[in-house]
Amino acid sequence: MNLLAIETSCDETAAAVLRDGREVLSSVVASQVALHADYGGVVPELAARAHLEVIATTVDAALDALPGGWDDLEAMAVTRGPGLAGCLLVGTCYAQAAAAARRLPVVGVSHLAGHVYSAWLADPSLEPPFLALVVSGGHTDLVLLRDHGDAVHLAATRDDAAGEAFDKVARMLGLAYPGGPSVERAAAAGDPGRFPLPRTHLEGSFSFSGLKTAVRYAVRDLGAAALTGAGTPRDPATLAGLAASFQAAAVDQLVTGLVRAAERTGAERVAVVGGVAANQALRAAVRERLGGAVVIPPMALCTDNAAMVGAAGWQRLMRRGGDPLGFTVDPALDEFA
Ligand code: KG4
Ligand code: ZN
Repeated sequence: MNLLAIETSCDETAAAVLRDGREVLSSVVASQVALHADYGGVVPELAARAHLEVIATTVDAALDALPGGWDDLEAMAVTRGPGLAGCLLVGTCYAQAAAAARRLPVVGVSHLAGHVYSAWLADPSLEPPFLALVVSGGHTDLVLLRDHGDAVHLAATRDDAAGEAFDKVARMLGLAYPGGPSVERAAAAGDPGRFPLPRTHLEGSFSFSGLKTAVRYAVRDLGAAALTGAGTPRDPATLAGLAASFQAAAVDQLVTGLVRAAERTGAERVAVVGGVAANQALRAAVRERLGGAVVIPPMALCTDNAAMVGAAGWQRLMRRGGDPLGFTVDPALDEFA
């Protein structure tokens, strides 16, 4: 069965075609990074308009993988939350209109379930139960996928998400948007032990705002002479040291939380997913602590994409069938399967 998946929850317009839920025939991502770079973050109204401009061509590009295009499709899946309301509306309206016109079943999918299922897509041997650490710009969650469609939410962040902390620290250091990859690049040249930053370890939750504030104070304590007019460190080695120290503390908290949850739940397989899972320091630390039990999808499946939405959508379709046309978006949807 060929399924077309559409993802427009934030700043990537994405479409993918999957065969039988697990074989990716195409995965196309139109990024808006350049559009939002000047603002240092995603501007919701601009993002929604940009989705509208490119959604048809993005879907067409994904459908190139099928000789008959639309005629070869049997189902559709689309992200209906969480995310930016105006952005989600573009994808869900497009998908439901197309499904109505082509008489195809369509399922509304949680973006977070998509991230969890990116691991299932990446490793053909992975089946539930498995533990997933979802680390993205909006989420830091520990989830136990007990079975397809049956997820238990074990932990969340009390304040900032991990990716959000990377983005905010990047801004404090004067690094380019998006922050995560910039901090990682800067950290590569830095000493992670140079600035003693707090190692937060909470039972059953994460927290990144204390760490973020500690970076802010460390920058301030360098003194005015060491800072540019914009308040960012002048000395490249100092800047690299701050980036490396922050990254080490953030990775330490994530890995410790994940290892403890793995012990507590007895999970034999563990996945690390979401945009922050693209971070090499996190990937290395998780592999070192958990070894062969771990699945970390390739970069293209970690950052936002439609293939993961297709995988989660296919599982949902198999169990519950299509959703009645007219379903709405849910910007705060809190579903992991
Ligand atoms: O999953 P994602 O693409 O979108 C959301 O659903 O949020 O995650 C985006 C987040 C951003 O905060 C970005 O800075 C972070 O993932 N990110 C990284 C890296 N690449 C992306 N954080 C740390 N290191 C990276 N290499
Ligand atoms: Zn995401």
